[in-house]
Amino acid sequence: MKEKSSFSSRLGFILAAAGSAVGLGNLWRFPYLAAKYGGGSFLLIYLVLAVTFGFALMITEIAIGRKTGKSALYAFADLGKKSGFIGVLASIVPIIILPYYCVIGGWVIKYAWVFLTGRGGAAATDDYFSGFISRTGEPIVWLVLFILATMAVILLGVNKGIENISKVLMPVLVILSIVIAAFVITRPGAGAGIVYYFKPDLSKINGNAFLAALGQLFYSMSLAMGIMITYGSYLKKEDDIESSVRNIEIFDTGIAFLAGLMIVPAVFVFSGGDEAALKAGPTLMFITLPKVFDSMTGGHIIGAVFFVLVLFAALTSAISLMETVVSIFTERFGKSRRVITIFVTIYAILMAIPSSLGFGVWSDFNIRGMSILDFFDFISNSILMPVVAFLTCVFVGFIVKPKTITDEVESSTKKFKSKKFYVVMIKYIAPVLVLLILISSVLNALGIITL
Ligand code: PHE
Repeated sequence: MKEKSSFSSRLGFILAAAGSAVGLGNLWRFPYLAAKYGGGSFLLIYLVLAVTFGFALMITEIAIGRKTGKSALYAFADLGKKSGFIGVLASIVPIIILPYYCVIGGWVIKYAWVFLTGRGGAAATDDYFSGFISRTGEPIVWLVLFILATMAVILLGVNKGIENISKVLMPVLVILSIVIAAFVITRPGAGAGIVYYFKPDLSKINGNAFLAALGQLFYSMSLAMGIMITYGSYLKKEDDIESSVRNIEIFDTGIAFLAGLMIVPAVFVFSGGDEAALKAGPTLMFITLPKVFDSMTGGHIIGAVFFVLVLFAALTSAISLMETVVSIFTERFGKSRRVITIFVTIYAILMAIPSSLGFGVWSDFNIRGMSILDFFDFISNSILMPVVAFLTCVFVGFIVKPKTITDEVESSTKKFKSKKFYVVMIKYIAPVLVLLILISSVLNALGIITL
């Protein structure tokens, strides 16, 4: 048997896991939610949930991965015979997400390229984005490029590929975030936007704000997709899980916070204080922000830096997705990692194409009013992920018992500092919170409530 691959150091693991966690969610969703739900007050709710709820779920997944040394597909079955189906459900999530995430990754490379070649002004014109995504060939070329870049890292392996690239890209990402945020907050008129971002507005703290923070946190920490289980399976037996999770959280929350500091004041100045301009998702990233950059002196250069930052964030997340899928298929089919990687690449390209065409020639094809990409996003994020997380909590809390996890954590550290808290969280609080996410996201998708 070949020795199982592993991260060479705890730092390598932390940076790779942070690379997965820091993604489009941090950059295009967090700033919008913070602005919408009362600035400082939302930041506070988010922070508290991150160090409690997010912490417990992430510890759980990493410990399951390290204890079993397996990907999600077999990790659950390994711990509890009858619970193998949770692993199957968890494995479906990254298999669905990988292709469509790469469609967006392709858009990001395109924009990075446009800005780097000095054509940021063109990207700021009306209809540029819709014109681009509705074309047939061009977006496919970009998404294939994005997938091939991801594949190259996976082919190099856990240590030489994922760990090494994370060690370079993640520090660069932090520096770029600080540079852009510093640039934005020193622009004339940015003060009002900064106040808007930080100032707590207690009147906006309500059930929706809480639910939005929960849902965001969950996605942002790459939970319930098998990713942290796979990465945990590469963590060395002697590395401390608890402090690693604390570090990953600081990274993820820190970048989300900086993203808000880049985006909220900039858009605020540009739109004259209209919060609707902060609308989350592709519109913000590919339509509003190019216009904002175009209106700033030096904005085209900062725009180029910004899209490179987004590209790095998206790439390290896609890497974690592809690695998870590759680890699942390698265990299932027993073929070499190389063969499986090539197979997964072809799968991702073939499945990404319909999502891409859904914005152009296939746009008449809608599922409950959702485009193909939105539909995959809905099934994975709004349904499967909360279901998987709920089952994971029940599995750990009541079937294998929290001791399985706490023992694993304690096997590499003298003391699991938050042990008591962890047990209460995973048994009683986290499952209830996850159920709330599930119910609210379904109601939101059905248009019964708006988050
Ligand atoms: N955690 C990522 C983010 O915040 C999301 C993500 C990562 C989604 C990996 C899928 C796979 O954007």
